[in-house]
Amino acid sequence: MMRLKGKTALITGAARGIGCAFAEAYVREGARVAIADIDITRARETASRIGDAAIAVEMDVTQQDSIEAAVAKTVEQFGQIDILINNAARFTADPLVAIKRSEFDAIFDINVAGTLFTMQAVARHMIERGKGGKIINMASQAGRRGEPLVAVYCASKAAVISLTQSAGLNLIGHGINVNAIAPGVVDGEHWDGVDAFFAKHEGKRPGQKKKEVGDAVPYGRMGVAEDLTGMAIFLATSESDYVVAQTYNVDGGQWMS
Ligand SMILES: NC(=O)c1ccc[n+]([C@@H]2O[C@H](COP(=O)([O-])OP(=O)(O)OC[C@H]3O[C@@H](n4cnc5c(N)ncnc54)[C@H](O)[C@@H]3O)[C@@H](O)[C@H]2O)c1
Repeated sequence: MMRLKGKTALITGAARGIGCAFAEAYVREGARVAIADIDITRARETASRIGDAAIAVEMDVTQQDSIEAAVAKTVEQFGQIDILINNAARFTADPLVAIKRSEFDAIFDINVAGTLFTMQAVARHMIERGKGGKIINMASQAGRRGEPLVAVYCASKAAVISLTQSAGLNLIGHGINVNAIAPGVVDGEHWDGVDAFFAKHEGKRPGQKKKEVGDAVPYGRMGVAEDLTGMAIFLATSESDYVVAQTYNVDGGQWMS
């Protein structure tokens, strides 16, 4: 369809998983993409598999100079950034009494501060360029409701929903739409780690937690990364120009809000 022809996107955490699926979908739609990730080896493999429309950019969203260098490199290579997806994040889980301050700080640094300061750096570029833009933040159903063993990650994703609202209201005057996607349970390497955590803490068999969460989805199965690409394309095109500061659930019917 080439709905993103002539557009360029910076996608954080795109070396694997959902970010990688977004990059592939955007390139199919005619965009050029920067695969920005702390894992530069994997980012290079992903970019070279996608082809000439993709570049790999080393980026640690917890480091201000790394954020600025990644934005500068993307602009240098492509001349502009039209779309940002703040996708890099880490999951953590622990019973409340076992949460360590250092882990809280690390998760908020990536999931919250990383989202805020990458938005800021790209918004400055978009405002200076004067042609608006699209920013998509990755929230989660975990940001809609707390979970017994997941206090820190849930709070970080609730913060992403809140940041999306404030940034969306602040930036729409510059023609920059900020919205978010809240996935439910999406199979992949991320969820392999979640499954292993529940195997350890709840004595489940490997794969059991995945089966349980998949069975609980009204649609009838866990999501896959490709289930989210339609929304990511919609939020990057002019079809969504009047959509401001929203978080969309794309979760097979798990959550309504
Ligand atoms: N998988 C799910 O079930 C699910 C559900 C809801 C929301 N989400 C959200 O969707 C997004 C993508 O999830 P995923 O399942 O693909 O995760 P993933 O763990 O497979 O991928 C995350 C990527 O982020 C990168 N990354 C980690 N720290 C970084 C840093 N400091 N700087 C730059 N890159 C960094 C990793 O190297 C990795 O490539 C995340 O924001 C996640 O919270 C996922």
